[in-house]
Amino acid sequence: MFDPTRRSFLQRGAIGLAAVGVSGLVLRSDAQPTQQVSRDSADRVLIQMGPAPREPAAPKGELRKVIPQPYGPFYRPGAPFRGKLSLPGEPGTTFILSGRVWAFDTKRPLPGAVLDFWHVDMQEKYSNGVTDFRNRGRLVSSETGLYELESIRPIPYRPDPAGSFWRCAHYHLLAVAPGYKPLITEIHFHGDPHKNDPMYRSENAIAVEQQKVNGTSFETGVFDVVLEPAS
Ligand SMILES: [Fe+2]
Repeated sequence: MFDPTRRSFLQRGAIGLAAVGVSGLVLRSDAQPTQQVSRDSADRVLIQMGPAPREPAAPKGELRKVIPQPYGPFYRPGAPFRGKLSLPGEPGTTFILSGRVWAFDTKRPLPGAVLDFWHVDMQEKYSNGVTDFRNRGRLVSSETGLYELESIRPIPYRPDPAGSFWRCAHYHLLAVAPGYKPLITEIHFHGDPHKNDPMYRSENAIAVEQQKVNGTSFETGVFDVVLEPAS
């Protein structure tokens, strides 16, 4: 009988998946298999899961469409899939950005959406996205549409370092999901000192909360992504 609190993965299948797209990598000859926690008689690796969370209710009121923004010149395809975009010790204020992906047509959370983020560092620079992927990364929304990343809080920057025009601080985001229109947008911040930037959208701006856990200070913000059906 199907047990929703328990998931199993075929060991062979997991190894096969791990091999996809890593043909350029070679395992050390003396490498040992990863130690397994438990297996059952069908040679499956077992992972005990907690009870499935109840599906969340849609936000109060109508789901609001996200205002799109252009890609800008610094998008690069192929960012790594990871939840931490910045390097350990990267200068800047640690920022936890989280939210939920919603389907505008069904008003339900959308699992499996791919969210591609990129942003500047404290030098007002984007990594090149070819040999350097700092502050770039992709995540997949969970079975309840949730995502969460850790990075640094981007700062306002001057597209022309010699100029006086400032872009407001922003995370760039490309969100894609099968059956839905790709969404390209920017996530802005309440109280940005450069919100006279004509691209600033208060509807896309998030509130920032200061937090301190075990002596470590960081900031958090929440941005929900709403995708429209493709047709
Ligand atoms: Fe930008």
